[in-house]
Amino acid sequence: MTLTDLALRFRGQPADVVDRVSLAVKSGEVLCVVGESGCGKSVTAMALMGLLPQQNTVISSGHLTVGHTDLDLTRESLPPSARGNRVAMIFQEPMTSLNPAFRIGNQICETIIRHTGTNSANARAHAKEMLQRVGIANPSQRLREYPHQLSGGMRQRVMIAMALANNPQVLIADEPTTALDVTIQAQILDLIRDLRDETGMSTIMITHDLGVVAEIADRVAVMYAGQVVEQGAVRDVFDNPQHPYTIGLMSAMPGLGLEGKRLAIIPGTVPTISNMPKGCRFRTRCAFATSTCQERPKLRKIAPHHDTACHFAPLEAHIEVSQ
Ligand SMILES: Nc1ncnc2c1ncn2[C@@H]1O[C@H](COP(=O)(O)OP(=O)(O)OP(=O)(O)O)[C@@H](O)[C@H]1O
Ligand code: SF4
Ligand SMILES: [Mg+2]
Repeated sequence: MTLTDLALRFRGQPADVVDRVSLAVKSGEVLCVVGESGCGKSVTAMALMGLLPQQNTVISSGHLTVGHTDLDLTRESLPPSARGNRVAMIFQEPMTSLNPAFRIGNQICETIIRHTGTNSANARAHAKEMLQRVGIANPSQRLREYPHQLSGGMRQRVMIAMALANNPQVLIADEPTTALDVTIQAQILDLIRDLRDETGMSTIMITHDLGVVAEIADRVAVMYAGQVVEQGAVRDVFDNPQHPYTIGLMSAMPGLGLEGKRLAIIPGTVPTISNMPKGCRFRTRCAFATSTCQERPKLRKIAPHHDTACHFAPLEAHIEVSQ
């Protein structure tokens, strides 16, 4: 899946909430998207799925390629038939996508039958297997229950089982494991890896957890205020972060071997959409900002698998990074 140059704003807002975002994930690859709360990760995912409210959203640029399907997002979106089938999404708010009025089993089986055309006995067996694979005990009993009878963590696992039941080509997972305890989280990550190995599924995973990124990602994209500021192979970005925001983000995370390059805290807060600085959106918080930063820095290659949107990257060449 390739997303190119997505720019969108909500009606009445003075700046784009997603600003020229490009993301690409190859077959069998896991791309993690990280960034502070409110930076536009979920909005980007919802735009990919064609799930933003049309009357409220203005998409001024964006192109999406999934397999052989090419879409100009300014005037078309992923057809409903592709959603949940070729492209599946696990939502940040699990309760919103389970219908409280129907039993868990009916909901999972209904999507399996709709997408594969199998009979209900096969669908039920597959639903049971998927519940087992996401670590739900007594799956036969759970299939007969209603969403309110399950804990929040269990509902999230049901959503994951449902999303993965149809072997999607692309999985978009928005904070899929945040609410789960570490054992279950590890099991879900294993399941995503297994499906990638079995079916070549590509995954775009949104997460706050750099530990999850280190564990599962092939590549990582770092977003700040609606823009991708750094992206690349996970080892390149983690071992050698080159955008001041990424360095700050990672120095808050112990155990990544980045302690030597500490920018102890990132001062200030993320600018609001009505207060977005021109040029580099990070410049109100950046220790390295100069007048050059009033120009928008382009995302450019600084190593074969590593792109950074900072005028001064690679930083070592310009500035001595504070120790
Ligand atoms: N339908 C909407 N109308 C107007 N503004 C919206 C809408 N949906 C989201 N926003 C705003 O867009 C911005 C980006 O939100 P988004 O949910 O993508 O953030 P996020 O990166 O997913 O954050 P988090 O890590 O907290 O989930 C936020 O300022 C949010 O308030
Ligand atoms: S372009 Fe300027 S403000 Fe932006 S991250 Fe680089 S040094 Fe900081
Ligand atoms: Mg979100």
